[in-house]
Amino acid sequence: MFSSFLLPIALAASVVTAQTTTDVNSLIAELITAPNHKGRVGDLPKDSDFVFDFANPPAAGVTTGAGGHLVLASVADFPALVGNGIAIAAGFLGPCGMNTPHTHPRATEFLYLVNGSLTNGMITETGSRFIINNITSDQAMLLPQGSIHFQFNDNCETVHFVSALNSADPGVLLAAQGLFGLPPSIVAASLGQLGVEEVAGIATIIPDDIAFGSQECLARCGINPGQQPTKEQVPRVSGNALPSAIMTASAWTPSATTPYTNQSSNQSRSVLGAIADSSSGSSGSSSKMQPVEIALIAVVGVMGAGYLVIAAIFFMRRRSSAKQNRTYTRPPMKGRALVPTLDSEVPDVSDDKPYDPADSQQSFYNHLHA
Ligand SMILES: *[C@@H]1O[C@H](CO)[C@@H](O)[C@H](O)[C@H]1NC(C)=O
Ligand SMILES: *[C@@H]1O[C@H](CO)[C@@H](O)[C@H](O)[C@H]1NC(C)=O
Ligand SMILES: *[C@@H]1O[C@H](CO)[C@@H](O)[C@H](O)[C@H]1NC(C)=O
Ligand SMILES: *[C@@H]1O[C@H](CO)[C@@H](O)[C@H](O)[C@H]1NC(C)=O
Repeated sequence: MFSSFLLPIALAASVVTAQTTTDVNSLIAELITAPNHKGRVGDLPKDSDFVFDFANPPAAGVTTGAGGHLVLASVADFPALVGNGIAIAAGFLGPCGMNTPHTHPRATEFLYLVNGSLTNGMITETGSRFIINNITSDQAMLLPQGSIHFQFNDNCETVHFVSALNSADPGVLLAAQGLFGLPPSIVAASLGQLGVEEVAGIATIIPDDIAFGSQECLARCGINPGQQPTKEQVPRVSGNALPSAIMTASAWTPSATTPYTNQSSNQSRSVLGAIADSSSGSSGSSSKMQPVEIALIAVVGVMGAGYLVIAAIFFMRRRSSAKQNRTYTRPPMKGRALVPTLDSEVPDVSDDKPYDPADSQQSFYNHLHA
């Protein structure tokens, strides 16, 4: 597959071109301080300084997760972009690969799909509606600056997209890592007084971008997601430190040998369908949840909680503007029962239908399939 042969090439290329970070940084500094465009062209003596090879990129421009990889030509790895206000990302999402929810703080993205089909969802602003499109090859979707958006390849084949971004330094802020990189007590409170340990536990298992999407897709494509890497977390400093107990809690010790079970062979198709069969997992006699299940549940839980928060804010605003004296009553948070706890007792949800974000998404999917 493309990704498997591209990476060794990328690594080899980074050795061959042998441009050190210092070289690149001093070139960028020269370009930034050049008095004008002519000065910048002078700083780029080779014609090939204006070419970026996506098939042979500098290692610094490559982001790889379990579900695929991205190559970004931005000012940091392609200095010719200085002063030109543009960057390009090329995405290769493997089967069921998901470019996890994120924003670009300094750029609008215009995503062109080269082949296959790709589900793109976004929220552009609190109070504006959720927008989702399943685009096919030769279609492009606009993702405005600051929007939280994701791409999901709900297919068993790799798809390839190319995104133009209107900044040479577009930046990326991964939504789950960003939220859970805040102090755990702040996150706990913002999610409706979840436990700090629950928050800290979830934070440690958020998969790196590009992650795997729905369990239904994985089952359909016969993929064992295994243990996804979790290295892209926001660094912990004293201000956002995790409770010390979390670091030693056995409940969060990942086990690399968890077998994948095809529990989802009959669940409905959904981007967010990863937890649809979790009730059978947690109601089973004394079975502890497997780390992969916990990871999938947590990821979907995080996204589900995000939608709940957004929905809550939206309805609170609507209600308060319509009827001043009606107060918002939070619905029972069934999703809470799915959040793993640190201590040995796993919440019993056996006689309680688990919260399923897929249900709330169904209308969008009916729309997509129509
Ligand atoms: C899309 O293009 C990529 C890269 O060339 C290729 O690996 C993949 O198989 C293609 N997918 C489809 C659905 O044609
Ligand atoms: C997206 O559209 C393609 C082409 O019409 C279709 O094959 C695919 O099943 C759709 N995907 C989803 C998630 O609806
Ligand atoms: C999972 O179940 C589906 C539907 O029964 C089947 O098509 C798929 O091949 C199964 N995947 C694995 C890995 O067994
Ligand atoms: C899906 O699987 C569950 C548990 O394996 C089973 O109880 C249920 O009847 C199945 N549903 C369908 C529609 O096959």
